[in-house]
Amino acid sequence: MESELLYKGKSKTIYAGDDNQTCILEYRDSATAGNGAKKAEIEGKGVLNAEISSILYQYLEKNGIETHFVKMLDATRMLVKKVDIINVEVIVRNIAAGGFSKKYGVPEGTPLKNTVMEFCLKSDEYGDPMMNESQITAIGIAAKQDLEILKNMALRINTLLSSLFDKCGIVLVDFKLEFGRHDGRIILADEISPDSCRFWDKSTGSKLDKDLFRRDLGDLAGAYREVLRRLKNVLQN
Ligand code: CDP
Repeated sequence: MESELLYKGKSKTIYAGDDNQTCILEYRDSATAGNGAKKAEIEGKGVLNAEISSILYQYLEKNGIETHFVKMLDATRMLVKKVDIINVEVIVRNIAAGGFSKKYGVPEGTPLKNTVMEFCLKSDEYGDPMMNESQITAIGIAAKQDLEILKNMALRINTLLSSLFDKCGIVLVDFKLEFGRHDGRIILADEISPDSCRFWDKSTGSKLDKDLFRRDLGDLAGAYREVLRRLKNVLQN
């Protein structure tokens, strides 16, 4: 039986699950940048991101972070807990890059003296504008105590992922998280992949993430494959 399509995003499609508690998240080969201004199909990206995300969710779950991951159904489809998504993107930064470098005139690669956390409204229509905590609570996107939970979870996730990627010889420069509510709890949703993180090779500084596509720098699938290879290597030993 065909699953009911619930939502088609820029790189993932969501279908209804068998019950009211789950959904099916399909990772596609579509790549977009600049809020959809640049588009391409990159063969193999869906499979790679699905596997990388599933490995990272399972690693986080083992370390006490609840995620929406249930299991892989096949190479691109993931069964996930159904959530009410909280309408903010949480961006965590360890090193200046991308939008932060541009906006504040801090050269890419500058180490940050403390971890930076940013919130952006999740809205293609408004171009994901940055929001502060009082704006988020004022319009009811999340209550103050929920924001505290998001911040704590994001910082714990940063510590866990930074240490895992360090063992892979990869610097976790920055990344974006999304959270949702499930059964009254706040859990990690969406994906964690080279589409949503910046990864730099620790020894050469070369990019292993979606900046290869954003900036036309070369073989994206090859870089994602390398991230996956190193993760498997580290987690299996
Ligand atoms: O993409 P850009 O450089 O404009 O944005 P950024 O604010 O520097 O992005 C910080 C991190 O969040 C990067 O790892 C992006 O890949 C990720 N991000 C994302 O996955 N989705 C967004 N809508 C915005 C940022």
